[in-house]
Amino acid sequence: MTAVEAFAPAKVNLTLHVTGQRADGYHLLDSLVAFADVGDRLWLTEGDAMRLSVSGPFADGVPLDHRNLVWRAAELAGWTGEIRIEKNLPHGAGIGGGSSDAAAVLNALGAADNGASLGADVPVCRVGRAVRMRGIGEVLDPAEGWPNLHAVLVNPGVHVPTPAVFKALQTKTNAPMSDVPETLADPFHWLAQQRNDLQSPATRLTPDIAPVLTALNDQPGVKFVRMSGSGATCFALFDEAAMRDAAADALTHAHPDWWVKACRLT
Ligand code: C5P
Repeated sequence: MTAVEAFAPAKVNLTLHVTGQRADGYHLLDSLVAFADVGDRLWLTEGDAMRLSVSGPFADGVPLDHRNLVWRAAELAGWTGEIRIEKNLPHGAGIGGGSSDAAAVLNALGAADNGASLGADVPVCRVGRAVRMRGIGEVLDPAEGWPNLHAVLVNPGVHVPTPAVFKALQTKTNAPMSDVPETLADPFHWLAQQRNDLQSPATRLTPDIAPVLTALNDQPGVKFVRMSGSGATCFALFDEAAMRDAAADALTHAHPDWWVKACRLT
């Protein structure tokens, strides 16, 4: 039986405004989310029983049973078989990880369910291109005019627990994101007027984030730098692919222990 291949892109929160908190503790968000051309790969082969296997640079510590969101996504779609996962993305890193894997499985299986029961980020990861996310992640509006961007993603190799970052956020009711203009003269200027409200609590909890932001800001030609999600992955944007590639090379050389990826955000 031939396997169906699926791609689970890294998710990048270009902005992440926390606008409130529901009675059940979940936070209301307003976020512009884009997707990278780097990500995990999955291969699905239908069969009588569920079985997961994992390879790739971030295979260590990935559960191969029901704890893996991929397993639960297959169950949600009423499917069984073998799923091979190539883990190219760091997990617990603010760039989707398990949520994007689960979304890729739901998409590959054509599931009608949006996947919100698996995690707040699963519905947005099913979109796979620039989209404004609101509610706790279930209200999605495509950002039609948003341009593709050259980016470098950097993770310093620390795992940041999302609940702890939300807990450390002092003000839960913050101003929403501005509407994304349909035609945008300067996306970097627009982004600079928006925020990631989780960046300062995450930076306080995780001392490894600030040096990443500094190193990204020091790169020649850099137009914009911010943290994604609850961290620790940060991104830098460039308007030229050559400047982006030079920055990725320089960062890889200077910080061999960091995960550094040049990519295109869609
Ligand atoms: O839904 P998911 O399991 O991905 O969320 C992980 C944790 O992040 C939640 O348990 C919650 O503490 C926090 N969270 C939140 N509000 C959101 C999304 C996540 O408080 N909108």
